[in-house]
Amino acid sequence: AGDSQAQTKKFVPNYDESKIPSYELPPALAFQNGDSVTTAEEWGKRRAETLRLFEEHVFGIMPDHRRIQVKLVRSDKDFRPGVTRHELDVSILPLEASSEIAPLVVQVLADVPQSATPVPAILGLNFQGNHTVDEDPKLRIPTSWVRDRRDGSTDGNKAIEKGRGVASSRWPSSMITDRGYAMITVYYGDIDPDFDDGFKNGVHGLMPAFIASLPEEHRPGSIAGWAYGLSCVLDAIEQTESLNVDAAQVGVLGHSRLGKTSLWAGATDPRFGMVISNDSGCGGAAISRRAIGETVGRINTSFPHWFCDAYLQYNENESASPVDQHQLIALSAPRAIAVGSATEDEWADPKGEFLAWQAAAPVYELLGMPAEDAKVVRDASMLTEQSVLNAGPMQYHLREGKHDLADYDWECYLDLGDRALQSKSP
Ligand code: GCU
Repeated sequence: AGDSQAQTKKFVPNYDESKIPSYELPPALAFQNGDSVTTAEEWGKRRAETLRLFEEHVFGIMPDHRRIQVKLVRSDKDFRPGVTRHELDVSILPLEASSEIAPLVVQVLADVPQSATPVPAILGLNFQGNHTVDEDPKLRIPTSWVRDRRDGSTDGNKAIEKGRGVASSRWPSSMITDRGYAMITVYYGDIDPDFDDGFKNGVHGLMPAFIASLPEEHRPGSIAGWAYGLSCVLDAIEQTESLNVDAAQVGVLGHSRLGKTSLWAGATDPRFGMVISNDSGCGGAAISRRAIGETVGRINTSFPHWFCDAYLQYNENESASPVDQHQLIALSAPRAIAVGSATEDEWADPKGEFLAWQAAAPVYELLGMPAEDAKVVRDASMLTEQSVLNAGPMQYHLREGKHDLADYDWECYLDLGDRALQSKSP
């Protein structure tokens, strides 16, 4: 798990714009055979082609179906005035009927503002366990693998009491519910542990025959597994009326590796009404061809289990890839998309995230984004201080500070939700 420092010691990131190799982005609006895409209908076909390219070259292939069962574990009606805190168990069932594999149980935490009508929600994976979101002693502690934090908040790879609340700054539940949204979160390690386990544990372990049937280079990495888990959680939201969450108004959010994951979840599951990438960087929102900060070669060395093996071909060879990350963003069109960066997060290449966001706009425009909004995106240049660009369903913001998920990021995302998500409710 984590960085294999020995292997990557020699990597020296480039941060000098003048040393970026010259590159051309693959056109979002042209088929692989060169034909251009000029109608929404043609985009439908190009979208399918693009999705397939990302599956085969970047993330790997997951099944197109899921089987789940939901159990409501507790509903704490007085958790905060006007807010109910629910805990659910979502069992993801083995896909292969004959198998004797036990279901994978994923614990879901949902803080839902009480309302006469179903509310919109933000669903995001967390890094350390649902119990790290705040100090509520009733929150269950994950029993699955956790990263050893070496700060006393874990006991080796086990989550413990001391971890309660340690990630609370990233999960401002009151702010979110005060604005009328449910906050729904799941520990990512419940879905798939974050290390190379040869497809044994987590969701991958539920589908050995499916994985064995794939060419080795297209077998799904962890990001594809986590995204699949997010779809299972959305299935559960749909099926659990008593949650009172409107499944058609769920934004999927993720920070960093989990931002790469939210982009892929938004691409593979069009039910997500809004897609949010926070500091997702390499393999997420940042243009790979810039090779600034973290590169494809470096990420494949440090985290070989995140992507499929075909992605290795693009180590120090980004321009050979048939896709770049603006196309990942475009796969969310015409739904609301937010890309957030931070000034001190050079490793994730804020400018590359901005440029990918900008290069996705032609797809949004083709699908009906008003011309004046498209112009705002086209004419924008990279922000230099904390601010936000809003153009219809597209939002980009830059926060002052480090690689993190902070209140300002949430405020931007909820603002976009107010415009793009809540306005869609009947
Ligand atoms: C590392 C990795 C990034 C990733 C980040 C995170 O820094 O290189 O690609 O986004 O971890 O998930 O925190």
